[in-house]
Amino acid sequence: MNILVIGANGQIAQHFIKKIAQTQHNAIAMIRKEEQVELLKASGANKVVVADLEKDFSHAFDGIDAVVFAAGSGGHTGADKTVMIDLWGAIKAIDETVKHNINRFVMISAMSTDDPDAGPESMRHYLVAKKLADDHLKSTNLKYTIVRPGLLTNDAPTGKVNLQGKISDYEDRAITREDVAAVLAEVIDKENTFKRTFELLNGDVPISEAVNNFS
Ligand SMILES: NC(=O)c1ccc[n+]([C@@H]2O[C@H](COP(=O)([O-])OP(=O)(O)OC[C@H]3O[C@@H](n4cnc5c(N)ncnc54)[C@H](OP(=O)(O)O)[C@@H]3O)[C@@H](O)[C@H]2O)c1
Repeated sequence: MNILVIGANGQIAQHFIKKIAQTQHNAIAMIRKEEQVELLKASGANKVVVADLEKDFSHAFDGIDAVVFAAGSGGHTGADKTVMIDLWGAIKAIDETVKHNINRFVMISAMSTDDPDAGPESMRHYLVAKKLADDHLKSTNLKYTIVRPGLLTNDAPTGKVNLQGKISDYEDRAITREDVAAVLAEVIDKENTFKRTFELLNGDVPISEAVNNFS
């Protein structure tokens, strides 16, 4: 499969591309700055497309079989960018996927997105943006998987996770970015994750077992 990675210069995305380089699939990296091209090629991307979610990015979908949405406006920008990237950029990416007759879409969402009102006040606009994008994805006929990690860390990966539809009982809300990337690489062609949503934390179950046993 040719997998379009949107937000390919991001931290999870770069781990994901390195993992995909070791499989039979191809990673097509969508980045927004020309100077990022060489880094993405070095990470193992088969092709790099320069495109921006705030402009016309439809050309990035040519020849694509699956889409992974790993972009995000980041904590350093304001609510305006949360709306334009995490919400509107994601919705446009979903619509382009449908328009191009691509049927697989994997979304990096966030834990607690189901109930933004229950989240910390400073995070509510972000959780609302992620929830509306997820709801839009669920309303399509795409074979989607919505992955909702907890607090992302750059700790060393353990290869083990806590992966459940809803995680209500936990001590530590963290998950390493590299383990999230490994889960994305594992779910990309797993039919049992199609049209499903799950939360993700560090845990005790090996990733392939956690994904294969998800029901
Ligand atoms: N932080 C957390 O604890 C947490 C928890 C749960 C979920 N998440 C979600 O996890 C996802 C990935 O996290 P991460 O740490 O890997 O993110 P990251 O390193 O901040 O990467 C996000 C990427 O999105 C790209 N991007 C931003 N605006 C764009 C635009 N207009 N067009 C194209 N690309 C654009 C950025 O490009 P540049 O490199 O050019 O800036 C960046 O490479 C995000 O969606 C985030 O919301 C985060």
